[in-house]
Amino acid sequence: MDKFVIKGGRRLTGEVTISGAKNAAVALLPAVILCDEPCILENVPSISDVNICLRILKEMGAEVTSLGKDSYRIDPTNIDKCCVPYETARKMRASYYFLGSLLGKFNKARVSMPGGCPLGDRPIDQHLKAFSALGAEYTLSQGMIDLRAEKLTGNQIFFDVVSVGATMNAILAAVKAQGLTVIENAAKEPHIVDLANFLNSMGANIMGAGTDVIKIRGVEHLHGTSYSVIPDQIEAGTFMIVAAATKGDVLVKNVIPKHLESITKKLEKIGVNIEQFDDSIRVWVDGPLVKTSVKTTPHPGFPTDMQPQIATLLTLAEGTSIVTEGVWEQRFRYVDELRRMGADISVDGKVAVIEGTGKLMGAPVKACDLRAGAALIIAGLAASGITEIEDIFHVERGYDCMEGKLRALGADIEKVSFPDADAESESSARKTAI
Ligand code: EPU
Repeated sequence: MDKFVIKGGRRLTGEVTISGAKNAAVALLPAVILCDEPCILENVPSISDVNICLRILKEMGAEVTSLGKDSYRIDPTNIDKCCVPYETARKMRASYYFLGSLLGKFNKARVSMPGGCPLGDRPIDQHLKAFSALGAEYTLSQGMIDLRAEKLTGNQIFFDVVSVGATMNAILAAVKAQGLTVIENAAKEPHIVDLANFLNSMGANIMGAGTDVIKIRGVEHLHGTSYSVIPDQIEAGTFMIVAAATKGDVLVKNVIPKHLESITKKLEKIGVNIEQFDDSIRVWVDGPLVKTSVKTTPHPGFPTDMQPQIATLLTLAEGTSIVTEGVWEQRFRYVDELRRMGADISVDGKVAVIEGTGKLMGAPVKACDLRAGAALIIAGLAASGITEIEDIFHVERGYDCMEGKLRALGADIEKVSFPDADAESESSARKTAI
């Protein structure tokens, strides 16, 4: 098992380069299945969720060739399996994108119910609604979802809730369906636009991505393409908060400033200085941080995937801040760990009240999900003393070389391996029982 050991209290300065977006890459990789020729994908982040996607593609028969650190050539033409087994799918929420892409290509798919971060109830009813509208039938048994269609035909799809995953899956399934598909109440996140741009670069006909109505006219063939994944909006936002929480001065490079607007506006309200350039943002603090209120909503609102990080920053600000989670049922599980570090936060349902104490103290803590892990790293960097963060595999699902990038900014952070005490005591208990 690995943990991060952070000696906090250092002011971080310098430059950091943001990697490709996790939530785009995990949809673009399955989308390659739809292509009738090999594709090249660049700016792919080195994270465990991407490794799982690549493993699934290889297990299905795709030929995956690494072209250096961030680029892959993927040839899907020999794919001969339409199944993603439990062992791989359970490790990653985004395995559900193989449903849409396999259905769109082969008119059938068998994929295990997805895993991923524990954020409360995570239904996929809207995904299934989209597949049904296009003519597929589904069965759920033994933890597997089976989809089958005689043929896929374009249709009207109205989503009851705004869902990133369901919007992406509807696009994947409709891109080769016969006729016109109209998706209404679609999600508008940057990664939806990226998926549409990627498919359009193969010859798809997708219009309106980034608005709440997306129109897709089905095409028969998709040709090979070379495409670069957009920069990660959430990794960029996380490093902006790293700079703010350590009262540092950081140039965050390889970003699309437009994607960061809601984060930038909130940080300015808190007293953080921001200067925007074409593809970078400078973030620095030279005065006090002050309270604010934040409510997470789908794009272009403040992203839920930045909620734990900004809540952590607000523990360091003067005054009482209110953070309301507007997307997930349970995204305050990290608060108990922040309290161990001296934060004064009370949670009632989807609302957290944060009494800014201006300081945090190092403590041993555990990451309970990906963004909670990022928040604890921010807390550890800002805290006095030593913070040890366990269960960092959550962080490695979605952040490309987090500790290396932080060290380059002057952080004192180490990844340390340690024996899994629970597993050891279980094994010795078993031996004793024998
Ligand atoms: N929902 C339904 N039915 C559905 C689908 C979603 O009721 O069929 C509800 C969910 O329960 C939730 C809301 O709709 O309350 C939004 O869920 P959405 O489908 O948008 O989330 P997702 O596609 O499962 C993606 C990201 C999450 C991010 C959310 C919201 C990926 C792989 N995951 O999840 O990212 O929080 O969109 O922006 O793209 C993360 O990166 O840390 C992360 C959790």
